[in-house]
Amino acid sequence: MNDLMSFGLHRHWKRLLARSVATEAGTVAVDLAGGTGDVARLLARDPRRRVWVCDPSEAMMAAGRCRERDAAVRIGWIAGEAEALPFADASIDLVTIAFGLRNATRPDAALAEAVRVLKPGGRFICLEFSRPSFWLKPFYDFYSWFVIPRLGGVVARQSSAYRYLVESIRRFPDQRAFATMLTAAGFRDVAWRNVSFGIACLHSAVRP
Ligand SMILES: C[S@@+](CC[C@H](N)C(=O)[O-])C[C@H]1O[C@@H](n2cnc3c(N)ncnc32)[C@H](O)[C@@H]1O
Repeated sequence: MNDLMSFGLHRHWKRLLARSVATEAGTVAVDLAGGTGDVARLLARDPRRRVWVCDPSEAMMAAGRCRERDAAVRIGWIAGEAEALPFADASIDLVTIAFGLRNATRPDAALAEAVRVLKPGGRFICLEFSRPSFWLKPFYDFYSWFVIPRLGGVVARQSSAYRYLVESIRRFPDQRAFATMLTAAGFRDVAWRNVSFGIACLHSAVRP
């Protein structure tokens, strides 16, 4: 469904996320809400990184473990919610989260946890749906409200889940408001970059 709904664009966005991080030897990275490990596999292509997927869904991670073998990369898998991370204070160099913060019941708590587990100078990167450019909005709204729930109904037999997806995207803060949330959580050097005209956005921030 992700491939179908986004015309495969989500893969391009995840590659942009992975490319936006520099590697140094011994880097420890955690991909929160990592699901089946799409982002983690991209990060783990650099063997100097130790990469963990953290997600509350054992089923998603089990599906990801099979793909890990196919991709011939090594990833650690650990069950946990973004609001209560199973990692020690100041132990991680890089925290990423793609299309996951919207699912957290308490996004503020999730950001506070990211600050807690990152080492001073460590980076946080979030890829999330955001607000598209004004000229794209009418097409985007039509596609979101009329096409996606119907696709979800026909292909996944879950149109209500895909209506929820569209609603949750609208509820999530826009580019500027999310940057303000990151600053309020204690990050510095907050910046963002729109991708695909703002349909999605990459926010990055540093733990002081
Ligand atoms: C839309 S999927 C994104 C998966 C993956 N990051 C990707 O982009 O392919 C959302 C993921 O968030 C996870 N999730 C739901 N609630 C969460 C929470 N409170 N903390 C962390 N992850 C959560 C789900 O289990 C699911 O794997």
